[in-house]
Amino acid sequence: MRKKIVAGNWKMNTVVPQGETLAKEIVGLSGEVPSDVTLIVAPPFTHLSRVAEALKGSRVALSAQNCADKESGAYTGEVSAKMLASVPVEYVILGHSERREYYGETNAKLVEKIKLALAENLSVIYCVGEKLEEREKGEHFNVIASQVKEVLFNLTAEQMSKVVIAYEPVWAIGTGKTATSAQAQEVHEFIRKTVAEKFGKDAADQTSILYGGSCKPGNARELFACKDIDGGLIGGASLVAGDFIAIAKSF
Ligand code: PGA
Repeated sequence: MRKKIVAGNWKMNTVVPQGETLAKEIVGLSGEVPSDVTLIVAPPFTHLSRVAEALKGSRVALSAQNCADKESGAYTGEVSAKMLASVPVEYVILGHSERREYYGETNAKLVEKIKLALAENLSVIYCVGEKLEEREKGEHFNVIASQVKEVLFNLTAEQMSKVVIAYEPVWAIGTGKTATSAQAQEVHEFIRKTVAEKFGKDAADQTSILYGGSCKPGNARELFACKDIDGGLIGGASLVAGDFIAIAKSF
């Protein structure tokens, strides 16, 4: 059985004490969430150590939002996978559309980042998703196929077993416009089939594929009921503990 996961991507929000409070609130409410749901929070780098402390002994796992594409050395401003593992952090989000769009992250660079993260035994939440104009031109399946093939097809089956995929249509992120559950399910099924082409059906069936893009307490239930949607990567709604937990209770 593949894992059900709800992960909160805090993006560049909150200062350290607020992040610490939010983490504590989430821990406090986490008992309401069925035990087969994995809960993850992804605060900014500056918050990781303090949030790790706040999560200690709880069921909530810690993720970073990015890592460097180099191992160590003279790369001012970068944070390596090894540094994250030493916090310790369990997961890292890679390939988020905001990283691809505003910070020039290419599929080639993401292969490097994912390999470095996996070498440190981190699990990876790898994001894919098409832009509005790509969907309007009917190119979304091609875009997603290349984001999957050019990156994940470079991994071994063992490495792939530590990867969670997040489908985030760019036009739905932070816009209040969610993909319909039918639109999301269609793409999730396509992603799973694409993964199966390289890694086989069993491995594809074991891969958790999360939906992201204006997922809220009001629409999570319908999305999570779809056969190939295994949870969510939540942005805005993950900054309110009650909303994040309500989403995690929506399976
Ligand atoms: P959103 O962000 O829930 O605010 O749309 C999702 C994401 O980008 O991970």
